[in-house]
Amino acid sequence: METYIAALDQGTTTSRAILFNSRGEIVSKAQYPFRQIFPQPGWVEHDPMEIWATTVRALSEAVDAAHIDPKAIAGIGITNQRETAILWDRRTGQPVYNAIVWQCRRTAEICDRLKADGLGETVTEKTGLLIDAYFSGTKLKWIMDNIPGVRQRAERGELCAGTVDSWLIWNLTGGKAHVTDYSNASRTMLFNIHTLQWDPALCAALDIPMDLLPEPKSNSEVYGHLASGLPGLEDLAGIPVCGSAGDQQSALFGQACFTPGQAKNTYGTGCFTLMNVGDTPVRSRSGLVTSVGWQVAGKTVYALEGSVFNAGSTIQWLRDELGLIQSAPECDRLAESVPDSGGVVVVPAFTGLGAPYWDMYARGTIVGLTRGSTKAHIARAVLECIAYQTADLVRVMNADAPCPLTELRVDGGASVSDILMQIQADLLRLPVDRPTQVETTAFGAAALAGLAVGVWNGFDELAALRRSQCVFRPQREEEACLADLARWHRAVERSRSWIE
Ligand code: G3P
Repeated sequence: METYIAALDQGTTTSRAILFNSRGEIVSKAQYPFRQIFPQPGWVEHDPMEIWATTVRALSEAVDAAHIDPKAIAGIGITNQRETAILWDRRTGQPVYNAIVWQCRRTAEICDRLKADGLGETVTEKTGLLIDAYFSGTKLKWIMDNIPGVRQRAERGELCAGTVDSWLIWNLTGGKAHVTDYSNASRTMLFNIHTLQWDPALCAALDIPMDLLPEPKSNSEVYGHLASGLPGLEDLAGIPVCGSAGDQQSALFGQACFTPGQAKNTYGTGCFTLMNVGDTPVRSRSGLVTSVGWQVAGKTVYALEGSVFNAGSTIQWLRDELGLIQSAPECDRLAESVPDSGGVVVVPAFTGLGAPYWDMYARGTIVGLTRGSTKAHIARAVLECIAYQTADLVRVMNADAPCPLTELRVDGGASVSDILMQIQADLLRLPVDRPTQVETTAFGAAALAGLAVGVWNGFDELAALRRSQCVFRPQREEEACLADLARWHRAVERSRSWIE
């Protein structure tokens, strides 16, 4: 009998479920968007109950659409938007506040205080991160400091804390498993990536009681089983939940970057470049961070990561806020209608700048406008800014990594854009390899779950499932690309430290 693995891909804007067969092919999928809540400029929240409800609907719909016996589903893998922090009541399952989303900047001042207290070096040494509002620790602190009664409830042991992986696994197992995986834990600023344990000193520095935190686990093991009687998932009771990874680490796994030096870039809401650096963490000299990539069968792999906060979201902004385009493909068509951006540069620092700049106070800007600038120039500048940001990441990654990159594997929504991929290959002077299967994030989670229950038996078997769909190679002259990059860097300087 054919066996299947269900992957739940809980992202920043949609909750998705994808069913894979044992050849790694997609059998069915379903997805639901949920509300983005912006209570103040720079603040971003989600309703955890909507995250859960949309996940359940997506899973149940994907299973129905596959027309299979649910008993043929050998396991469920989770992958998720990382760093987004949730606190909930361990008895009732009710969240005490909305989820504070990874993009939210409300804890910038807490971060400034931690830096002023001289904690920066300790954080980097232990966690592989640097102090920034991006990571979950200060978000948990904010909820406990600002929502009346929450700190007292936390201290009485009534609450659970976690990232979205923990929240989903806790709900799927009917409250039995309060766990997280090493890849998600290593994005909290509370987790020691060398010992693979929560760090008491960092928890104390952020006033976070340690018994609030989930138990850290490997990325491929049985965490628990789907509880019986979950509304909408009754037929799936008993299926093991057996793989979990933050979405960027999951994509690195799903792209079969199993050899140190291999790297991928995901073009999603943001852009995330991750390189497998092997079994020893690499310390960046230039603003990248190090996280656990995964631990499978007792072997830990670390990843060097550069994250930019706004990439695909810039195309959405053109569509939804500016109304310059109706759809993402229209952005491509407009960009292709002009030979270049006519000198226009967009810096999408809507929520500050991530790697390698780490400027929480930067804000977006458009420079180089002339009376002749058209929306086609702006559309092209939007695609270019996505590629420039990735080029910045790869440049510093090459400086930090044990060996320079020889190709970049790509995935994520915007990787379907040929023009963007060509601009990227030109700027990087490297082949850009797009696989046939662009659902690499979900496939990574499925692969981790499938390894735990024997659907796949090892990395070679998984690597053989990956196929290139198109390899983009540099075409434009290097000098012109370097001039464009220099202009981009001048534009970035204008966006920096914009708000007080
Ligand atoms: O670190 C944030 C990242 O995990 C979000 O990914 O795919 O939801 O934009 P995505």
